[in-house]
Amino acid sequence: MNSQLLDKLEAFYDLEPEIEDFGDAVLRGLSAENKTLPCKFFYDLRGSRLFDEICELDEYYVTRTEIGLLTDNTDDISKCLGTDCHLVEFGSGSSTKVRILLDAMQQSAGYTAIDISRDHLIASCAILADAYPGLPVSAVCADYSQALDFPALGASSGRPVAFFPGSSLGNFDENDAVAFLARVSAFLSKSDGGLLIGVDLKKDQATLNAAYDDAKGVTAAFNLNLLVRANTEIGANFDLSAYRHKAFYNAELGRVEMHLVSTKTQSVTIKGQSIDFAAEERIHTENSYKYSLEQFASICRDAGFTSSKVWCDANQLFSVHYLETS
Ligand code: TRP
Repeated sequence: MNSQLLDKLEAFYDLEPEIEDFGDAVLRGLSAENKTLPCKFFYDLRGSRLFDEICELDEYYVTRTEIGLLTDNTDDISKCLGTDCHLVEFGSGSSTKVRILLDAMQQSAGYTAIDISRDHLIASCAILADAYPGLPVSAVCADYSQALDFPALGASSGRPVAFFPGSSLGNFDENDAVAFLARVSAFLSKSDGGLLIGVDLKKDQATLNAAYDDAKGVTAAFNLNLLVRANTEIGANFDLSAYRHKAFYNAELGRVEMHLVSTKTQSVTIKGQSIDFAAEERIHTENSYKYSLEQFASICRDAGFTSSKVWCDANQLFSVHYLETS
C-alpha cells in the first residue's frame, strides 16, 4: 500500500525515530515518587480520534480560534510567506490547517510534513499531493522534539517557513520550548527562513478549566485512554472506574495540568510488578503552558527569533506569530 502512496511524494525521509517501549515507559513513570505517564502515548488510533473530537468541542476554543485567525488574515500571512515559500510543518498530523495557507498562496515551492506516526504521515501527505497537483510534497518521519536531522530538509527548494500550529509549543516545559525554538531558528537562519506558530494565551481560569475538562467528558476519555492502553497492550489491570480525570489551571506555573486521580487506595499489577496508589494520589499526564504576548516574545528572543507580526482574535484568546531569525 505504502509504495503507491510514496509514488505521489517528492521525497520520503525516514529518520526512524526511537519509540520507547510503552510497557517500559509506564513502569518507569509509575515507579517514580511523583507518578507520571508520558503524553506521547496519548495518540494511538482511539486517542487520535478522541483528540479530533476535542478539537470540535464548544469548550475547546483553541482549534477554531486558530483556524479563524489563519483564515481571516490570509492576505497578511501570504505576504509574510512570500511567493517562493517552502512550508515545513512540525507534527503535521492530518495536514489540514496547512491547506488554509496553501489555498491563500499564489504559488509555493513545496510542502514538507514532519511527524512521528509513519503510516498516518504518508497517507496524509499522499492525500495532500492529490489535492494540490504541482505542489512538491515531502514527508519526514521523525520525532521533532529530539534533535532533527535538518540537512534532510536542506535539499528542498524555496525559502523555508516552519509551521507549528495548535499551541503544541505549550506542551513543552519552558526550557525545552526555548531549546526547540533555538534548533528551528538555527535551521532557518541558513536560508533566511521564517516561523509561523500558534500560541495559546493566558486567560481567565474558568475558560481554561472548561477547555480541558469538557461537559461531555471527551477530554476525560482522552486522558483515561492511557490506562485503557495499559490494560489492552501490556496486560495491566487498572479498574477504570476507580480513576478520574482532573485538569486545572496552575496560575503560579502558568499551565493547565492534566492528571489521573486514584479515587481510593488500590494496587495495580503491570508486567508482574505491583504498584500502589493512595486515595487521591495523582498521575501527572500532561501540561499545556499558556503565554502572555510579552512572555512569548521573551522566549523567542532567547531562541534567536524576532517577532515580525502577531495576529490575535478580538477576545485575545489565541495568537498566531510570524517570526524571523535575528
Ligand atoms: N497542544 C494542545 C493544547 O495543549 C493540544 C493538546 C495536547 C490537548 N494535549 C491535550 C488538548 C490534551 C486537550 C487535552 O491544548
